[in-house]
Amino acid sequence: MNYKIPLSVPVANGNEWKYVKECLDTAWLASGKFVDKFEKAICQYTKAKFAIACINGTSGLQLALRLSGVKTNDEIIVPTLTFIAPVNVISYLGAEPVFMDCDDYMNLDVEKLNQFCKDECKLTKSGLRNKRTGRIIRAVVPVHIFGNPCDMTNIMKIAHKYNLKVIEDAAESLGSYFKGGLYKNRFTGTIGDFGVYSFNGNKIITTGGGGMLVTNNRKLAEKARYFATQAKNDPINYVHSEIGYNFRLSNIQSALGIAQLERLENVIKIKKKNYDLYKKELSDICEVELLGAPEDTRPNYWFYSLIIEKKMCGMGKEGLTRRFLENGIQARPIWYLNHMQKPYRNKQAFKIEKAIWFWKRTLNMPCSPNLAEKEIKKISSIIKNKNTKR
Ligand SMILES: Cc1ncc(COP(=O)(O)O)c(C=O)c1O
Repeated sequence: MNYKIPLSVPVANGNEWKYVKECLDTAWLASGKFVDKFEKAICQYTKAKFAIACINGTSGLQLALRLSGVKTNDEIIVPTLTFIAPVNVISYLGAEPVFMDCDDYMNLDVEKLNQFCKDECKLTKSGLRNKRTGRIIRAVVPVHIFGNPCDMTNIMKIAHKYNLKVIEDAAESLGSYFKGGLYKNRFTGTIGDFGVYSFNGNKIITTGGGGMLVTNNRKLAEKARYFATQAKNDPINYVHSEIGYNFRLSNIQSALGIAQLERLENVIKIKKKNYDLYKKELSDICEVELLGAPEDTRPNYWFYSLIIEKKMCGMGKEGLTRRFLENGIQARPIWYLNHMQKPYRNKQAFKIEKAIWFWKRTLNMPCSPNLAEKEIKKISSIIKNKNTKR
């Protein structure tokens, strides 16, 4: 369907043409200097020590889990409220997810994480053993939902105490960082053992499809690069000592990525301005609220989540979605929760409450960087209709 105002579309009005033309003119399409340049540019921006460009964020997450030592029958703690990719990669490795609830910002609930490790598991020589299943919990995957940074201080503390690897799914949060606390000025994705960004079409920067794995560990970075290029030990005779993947990003996509990254801070500025305008426009409406950001963080304002009280003039989330549709506006509920998805219904889920609360009430609003002021006002006026505070 063609929407008058789509949810999230990319903007490519920087050096994209110039860099991609260079790839076409020189016929360096698959490999080439832009891959290396893009990795260096991501390191420079995020201050991560090493970066490996991948075909998408999902492949980056798969590499990160494998390099974290995840094996068949291990367990990984993952939020139920997230896009399904970080859950599926657990299955690709033959491991099992344990679903965790979310906090007030839709991110992993650290109190429940701690409670689960303390009460439901036992720390053994082989690692943290889940008392119910007898399996070892190898890692936790916090996801910085919609660009909001997770509580990394407490996640790292818990992970350290219980011997868990931390793989940050920063697919949606490139550009988000901490303004204070233990990780002051550190970007999401650069705090755990690994971080992964996505450059999928709807992300804050896009390469049409792509991802970046980052780590501060040189050895693991080298191994990730090795696995991502079919684990080639001898590039002339094609000798492979391990089973690898074809996960490397192409030169032409990396060229796009460099141009997009050059404009990222500018895009975040525009996104914040639009977020502030939505907030102002919606301030006098009862029963709706825009999701805020955790204290002392600079989010990237990737998505704008509207929390709608169910009764909202008898309309609720579904009614409002319909009203948007009638006006050619695309708004989308948050993902169906992973612990309720068919392949994962019989997996362990720990005290899921708030995620259900958010799932019932949240609608993501149009948030493209090229959204016009009058479009935000139009969207807001549709919500306002009949719902203005008296
Ligand atoms: C939270 C999250 N994790 C992982 C991914 C996977 O990234 P990709 O689509 O680049 O494989 C996405 C988005 O697509 C995402 O939103």
